[in-house]
Amino acid sequence: MLVDSFGRVATDLRVSLTDRCNLRCTYCMPPEGLEWLPKPELLTADEIVRLVRIGVERLGITEVRYTGGEPLLRRELVEIVRRTTELRPRPQVSLTTNGIGLARLAGPLAEAGLDRVNVSLDTLDREVFVKLAHRDRLPDVLAGLAGAAGAGLLPVKVNSVLMRGINEHEAAPLLRYCLEHGYEQRFIEQMPLDAQHGWRRENMVTADEILAMLSAEFELTPDDPRERGSAPAEMFLVNGGPARVGVIGSVTRPFCGACDRVRLTADGQIRNCLFATEESDLRAALRSGASDDELAERWRAAVSRKRAGHGIDDPSFLQPARPMSAIGG
Ligand code: GTP
Ligand code: 5AD
Ligand code: SF4
Repeated sequence: MLVDSFGRVATDLRVSLTDRCNLRCTYCMPPEGLEWLPKPELLTADEIVRLVRIGVERLGITEVRYTGGEPLLRRELVEIVRRTTELRPRPQVSLTTNGIGLARLAGPLAEAGLDRVNVSLDTLDREVFVKLAHRDRLPDVLAGLAGAAGAGLLPVKVNSVLMRGINEHEAAPLLRYCLEHGYEQRFIEQMPLDAQHGWRRENMVTADEILAMLSAEFELTPDDPRERGSAPAEMFLVNGGPARVGVIGSVTRPFCGACDRVRLTADGQIRNCLFATEESDLRAALRSGASDDELAERWRAAVSRKRAGHGIDDPSFLQPARPMSAIGG
């Protein structure tokens, strides 16, 4: 098991398959992009599957989430998913994606055993999309969402980050769209994880504000909190249910105390927290011939050092050197 000094157990492994992306969301990347990891530094598909296997077989990992950058850009994605679902005990396997290309890949991914997807969608307005993501791809994202639902990757969850003066007025329209299409909408507070280090607390649209905006149009009642477990989203029934909406208040309503996550970056580093300041290099160990036992031991040690929380409110808080795209969402 992967246990930290506060007694939390990491069972949810989030694996970044690439740091590249075909969008440039302002809360993540500068418009010109970033310097991508050189290919030899990326874990190969075999290396990824080996580490995931060690997590599943020896360390109690029960859920595997593939992320990026944009995971659909990784050519071996379908193969990696298939090999992950063949592991025993079979983990839950999911994907967090921007949806571009999902219309085409949802079928093959479902066939490979993928259980579900979370898709980022911050606006329904094509012009706002271009302003926000610096690419004119809104129709591809909407087609991707429909493709995921059509392929049975359910429930399809939609992640929306609201930004002041850009898309904050879209809370209600986004929720309406998701209700119409049967997607589960979640609104996310923006965190200081952008490459440009431009995050300002006063610009963040808070969970309280989001709930107030939604309540003007919908009747929200808190869903049974016992159902939440370690999930980051606080769920509300919409107009009496069964449809639900979630709010992920990472900053103003932190859930670090219940965190069950551990991350593997595309270049093979274990990060015990999104906001970790140190990483543990499994790639170097793996490439110098470490055994499964040795890799598992290194991994355990990395998780044992996990801090109590993200510390965004501490005066000494430092944003991690890696942006979200290189950590995995
Ligand atoms: P499911 O509900 O199980 O599908 O997972 P999820 O909500 O974690 O998935 P997703 O990858 O869609 O993440 C949604 C958002 O949760 C991200 O955009 C982050 O804002 C937030 N989040 C995910 N992991 C962490 C974490 O470890 N710490 C914090 N503070 N926020 C996280
Ligand atoms: N704060 C909050 N969420 C973010 N995401 C990307 N960057 C940030 C940030 N700075 C979200 C994306 C995606 C998920 C992986 O993380 O919208 O849904
Ligand atoms: Fe790409 Fe996701 Fe970053 Fe947007 S948030 S630029 S979709 S990696």
